[in-house]
Amino acid sequence: DKGGWTSFMAKEVSEGPEAVANTLRGRLVDDSVALELGALDDAVLRDLDRIVIVACGTAAYSGLVGKYAIETWARIPVEVDLAHEFRYRDPVLTPRTLVISISQSGETMDTKMAVQHARAQGARTLSICNTQGSTIPRESDAVLYTHAGPEVAVASTKAFLAQVIGQLLFGLHLAKVRGTIDDAAIAEVVGELRELPDELRQVLAEQDPIKELAHWMSDTRSVLFLGRNVGYPVALEGALKLKEISYIHAEGFAGGELKHGPIALIEPGQVVFVVVPSPRHEPLLHSKIVSNIQEIRARGARVIVVAEAGDAAVLPYADIVLRVPLTLPMLEPVLQVVPLHIFALELATAKGLDVDQPRNLAKSVTVE
Ligand code: M6R
Repeated sequence: DKGGWTSFMAKEVSEGPEAVANTLRGRLVDDSVALELGALDDAVLRDLDRIVIVACGTAAYSGLVGKYAIETWARIPVEVDLAHEFRYRDPVLTPRTLVISISQSGETMDTKMAVQHARAQGARTLSICNTQGSTIPRESDAVLYTHAGPEVAVASTKAFLAQVIGQLLFGLHLAKVRGTIDDAAIAEVVGELRELPDELRQVLAEQDPIKELAHWMSDTRSVLFLGRNVGYPVALEGALKLKEISYIHAEGFAGGELKHGPIALIEPGQVVFVVVPSPRHEPLLHSKIVSNIQEIRARGARVIVVAEAGDAAVLPYADIVLRVPLTLPMLEPVLQVVPLHIFALELATAKGLDVDQPRNLAKSVTVE
């Protein structure tokens, strides 16, 4: 039931705040995190020497955010692998490796095969999954359910937010167990996590500029997305969503990669979305992305910036600024991705496409 919305995707985007609140529910106690991970007890977590995150599509992009957060807090090496690439080579796995699979459906064949392979090689497995009782959690040592609620539209939206939250919770838990983070730092993140649902409501309340933008862009043939650090997976996700439902060619890049090739694509009129980190928390990264914006602007790009409220440094270089509320760096993707989801939705709608059932795609890819 679309509950009065024009599409399931529109409904699911609007459910982002509840998806995040429900994923946090019961897992924040006072100023700390409380996770129950069954077989992955503290002794096992302390003994790990490496983490590999396996997933596909949007779930894999959420995994890239997870990598930055887990490495920062728990000081353990984390790789992110597309599940099918992981499965069909001979990855190095030991009992001290934790393989975290991320899946909304819990039925994605590529991800399931990766988990089975990891277990057969003796690695530990944790499933971050949105569907209770699905296959992947059943085949894993432990599960951390996201509680985003059912997702029907082929394009994954609220599940991405919940997947990021699940990994942030796990990262904090792991860091606490391994003693790599102090209580004050945990308390600061926990405080900001509690703010996220309301902040998401604010982002959702400011959709009009995005709708207008989508409207004038309905003839656009190519859109690029740039980000750095945790903004990089946001750029990849923004591009995937646009390809999937509006059939517009879109690519996401890491800002630092621009001069290694992609800048050749910039010609007058090329639309580029830029995901900007907080200048308060990440001044160096911020200045790097501002230089990227200057480089593409000088070559005639039309720049649409997603930046935190109050960031004035981007104003001279941006054609349009989409604002998100202030938060901590690792939490930014949860807010920044929403304008990009809405943009894809509005653009596909402006083109008269079926946003819930894009051509050639299935919600759950249960074949290899
Ligand atoms: O159910 P899963 O999270 O395992 O699905 C993974 C991908 O197939 C999925 O995220 C896909 O990329 C979406 N259609 C993206 O919007």
